Amino acid sequence: MKINDFKLECYFGLYEFTAPYLLTQSDCESMTTEELLAMEPGAKEDYLKQWLGYTETWGDPALREVIAGLYQDMKAENILVFHGAQEAIFAYMNVMLNPGDHMIAMYPNYQSAYEVANSVPDCAFSKWWVKDGGDKWVIDFDELEGLIQPNTKVLAINSPNNPTGYTFTNEEIRRLCKICKDHDIYLFSDEVYKGLEMDGETRDWMADHYEGCVSLGVMSKAYGLAGLRVGWLASKDTEMLNKVVKFKHYMSICDSAPSEFLSKVALKHSDQLLKRSHDLIVENIKLADQFFEKYAYLFEKKEISCGPVAFHKLLIDMPVDEFCQMAVDKKGVLLLPAGIYDMEGQYFRMGYGRKGVPEALEKFEEFLIENGFTK
Ligand SMILES: Cc1ncc(COP(=O)(O)O)c(C=O)c1O
Repeated sequence: MKINDFKLECYFGLYEFTAPYLLTQSDCESMTTEELLAMEPGAKEDYLKQWLGYTETWGDPALREVIAGLYQDMKAENILVFHGAQEAIFAYMNVMLNPGDHMIAMYPNYQSAYEVANSVPDCAFSKWWVKDGGDKWVIDFDELEGLIQPNTKVLAINSPNNPTGYTFTNEEIRRLCKICKDHDIYLFSDEVYKGLEMDGETRDWMADHYEGCVSLGVMSKAYGLAGLRVGWLASKDTEMLNKVVKFKHYMSICDSAPSEFLSKVALKHSDQLLKRSHDLIVENIKLADQFFEKYAYLFEKKEISCGPVAFHKLLIDMPVDEFCQMAVDKKGVLLLPAGIYDMEGQYFRMGYGRKGVPEALEKFEEFLIENGFTK
């Protein structure tokens, strides 16, 4: 199998661990193992006794049970655990897409959601664009219906969306599930940023609404525990999960036992962890709002209703990739330009889930002043 380079990962590979001011990260602030274990009485002692043999390919039954509890209508048998969300996407798409199939992906999107389709011979892929609606990003359901073909097998969506932050309302979730059901399309719903609502509407997991839907969840983003590398697929379609698990046999085989243990501890305190990330994002957005108000002649700010990322627009006459390159080269401020998503336009991604955002914003402002961008 030949697959194109993962542009975002290549870019982060250059800067994520060297640039001092990260202003585009999509994962929320993490913590130490000690801090996590302190959330649960007795967890530290139990962790030290954790057996380090192989684990079950489907995931620790107790962990699957805890994950199932996040949903309205799932049992442990509906959960398949993976080594991160990335592995789950790769396994699912490889199993589902065959020559002659057509898939639709919400776009822009995390590259792995559609890159497998590009790598399967004679598998067609259409983009359902999230569009620039001025102060926010918008989506058109009629356009989606127009993209559906008789051989459309999978619709891949990502809500809250990376990078635009677009998040389906519960009404839109029901509409989307109905469209897929009516056309007999599998729905791959990447919900790795779920749980960080700022508009007061708690979103449903999509897999609770439609048998043919699989919800992708992960410890990395909203929970801030990316180093655990634990993700999962949840679906009522256990026949499909039984096919996907066979692909996992050729990848990680099973997950890391210490990570599964720590994920169980974390998910028992799911609300507390989500609140921690949510509150940090809200505080950082307040600062970003002040920043964008001050520099309204340089940027068009896009509102977000949920999640840690926003995709703003640069208004000056300089290609956004050059602008972002200059910010990281001259001041160590990392942003993510639209080209990483194979997208035209002057957009760049900002991430609000990290403790370092206030300092990174200050450095970003210094960069603007020192390089003649300000009036
Ligand atoms: C939308 C989306 N899905 C999946 C992933 C992969 O998550 P993980 O790194 O936990 O495997 C990412 C990571 O950035 C993402 O943004």
